[in-house]
Amino acid sequence: MPNEPAKSSPPPPLSPEKQKEETEYLARRLEQCASTLREVPPADQQKLPPGTLLLLVRYLEERILQVLAPGSLSEFRWGGATHRRGSAQEPREGYGQVAAFYDEVLGGRFGMEEQLVFEVLGELRGKAILDVGCGTGRFSIPFAERGARVTGVDLSPEMLAQARRRASETNLPLELMDGDAMAVDLGDRRFDVVFSSLAVTHLPELAPFVARMRPHLRSGGRILLSDMHPNAQRMGIPVGMPIEGTYRFIRHHIHPISEYFEAATCAGLTFRRLVEYPKEWVQPLWVLVEIGEPVAVR
Ligand SMILES: C[S@@+](CC[C@H](N)C(=O)[O-])C[C@H]1O[C@@H](n2cnc3c(N)ncnc32)[C@H](O)[C@@H]1O
Repeated sequence: MPNEPAKSSPPPPLSPEKQKEETEYLARRLEQCASTLREVPPADQQKLPPGTLLLLVRYLEERILQVLAPGSLSEFRWGGATHRRGSAQEPREGYGQVAAFYDEVLGGRFGMEEQLVFEVLGELRGKAILDVGCGTGRFSIPFAERGARVTGVDLSPEMLAQARRRASETNLPLELMDGDAMAVDLGDRRFDVVFSSLAVTHLPELAPFVARMRPHLRSGGRILLSDMHPNAQRMGIPVGMPIEGTYRFIRHHIHPISEYFEAATCAGLTFRRLVEYPKEWVQPLWVLVEIGEPVAVR
């Protein structure tokens, strides 16, 4: 379940020492997965993205297969179904293919994240918000419904088309811009909040992104970044979607928490908040980072 496609030629068999080391590692990880499964209260399980915990187990299963039978991985199981393993695609192309299914596959399963984002944002009426990688408008639409003036940017015309359709159905005035967050011309627009969910993982580096957004912050403005936790990604939470029998992996980059911190400080901004949640789990699934006003110079 790592985000890379299966290689056409299988890796060489592991040495007996490496195989023992791997097996011991897997046994430890399996025990952690088991305790994660035991700890999640049934009510919270409903809020998980599809098959999250199962994914951890599947990941381990795949690692076991890699150790015991290299080259045997042509299928990928997700959400209770078996999919062919698609090759990883660049975001523009990848999201172009999943756009029509995105909202349905997500199916409101990221409620845990949405709840925290709205709690942290507080009152939105009259606020100017930039939603970077807005996709189909999962946040842009409710931001606008709560009275914010929303600008959404996305590099996938197909994802934006879904957002446009939803905006027109709800009669909400969204400004939607087609382009790469690192290149799109934002002119002299300034925002109270630069927000992004599940999108900065597609940027190779965070520091240039935060630096690019800084001039577009109003005085007192903040940058709020929400994504899957980097360690959960390392454990195999995939980025992509199962569509019509094939799991479409979309190329992403894992940003350790320290990178968020560095990105803020390099841009001369304050690293204001870090939430790794749910915190009672063995491995938190999500990360939320808030970056705020410039660091005061004495
Ligand atoms: C997983 S979707 C998230 C969409 C939405 N924010 C949400 O939370 O449902 C990631 C989105 O980021 C967009 N994206 C990826 N890289 C981007 C970039 N460099 N600039 C703008 N958008 C980007 C993709 O096209 C896609 O719509």
